Amino acid sequence: MPTRRYLMCRPTHFAVTYRINPWMDPAAPYDTALAISQWTELKRVYESLGHQIEEIDPLPGLPDMVFAANGGTVVDGKALAVQFRDAERADEGPAYAEWFRGAGFEVTEAKAINEGEGDILLAGDYILAGTGFRTSHAAHAEVQELFGRPVITLQLVDPRFYHLDTALAVLSHGDRDERSREEPGVQSVKPVNVAYLPEAFSPGSQAVLRQLFPNAVIATVADAEVLGLNAVSDGETVVLPVQAVALAAALEQAGYQTIGVDVSELRLAGGGPKCCTLELRS
Ligand code: ARG
Repeated sequence: MPTRRYLMCRPTHFAVTYRINPWMDPAAPYDTALAISQWTELKRVYESLGHQIEEIDPLPGLPDMVFAANGGTVVDGKALAVQFRDAERADEGPAYAEWFRGAGFEVTEAKAINEGEGDILLAGDYILAGTGFRTSHAAHAEVQELFGRPVITLQLVDPRFYHLDTALAVLSHGDRDERSREEPGVQSVKPVNVAYLPEAFSPGSQAVLRQLFPNAVIATVADAEVLGLNAVSDGETVVLPVQAVALAAALEQAGYQTIGVDVSELRLAGGGPKCCTLELRS
């Protein structure tokens, strides 16, 4: 079973008290206890898949801190810290950086606006980087320099899909599959693949995605509107919002197992399973 290491932050202080994306309505009711139970179930699902979960302490006054994906980008034991666009989330950056240091990662400060794995996604040997709403184009160069991997800029155009991880999910990194690990001589490598919503990207970025991922799983607007693309894949099993029914079927068709989780309460802040999950790669 492919074991991953994920950082998560319990939504103890979850609230919707400001609006920094179109999903958030500070006048609408929210239920912190429900957010905690949905998050706890997400964590349980990861553990049932054999993944290792680390937790960072939630801080009062930072209601979006549950969205750990925005806490940094961690590849090859190196952590690139973040620089949030909005003042409401600014204090999360140093808290996550401190956690990385404590966990033994080498931390580099971000100079430009950079919202971590919300916009920066490792895909095999490449890094896909979103811009348009949050992470700045300048941050992409910092990412490439630090990690020494080619960075592909993708232009986001729909404010509902403001982070790359709301418009695209990395499904596999070109890993060797289970059979080839167990049986020497079997040379089976899954190609790097993604699922995405074409309409969330500029025409040029759509062309880039078509060229890089000719066999991508194409999501529908209905899938994306329930944040279905905010999914977490370990290369075999994809954990995604249970409401994304068509996407789950398309993923099964493409050879993945799927597990639907209900994180509807966190969607009130514009987040799904992937937003709650930061992969730690040593
Ligand atoms: N309310 C948060 C924000 O707008 C949600 C962040 C979701 N995170 C993500 N990785 N897409 O910043």
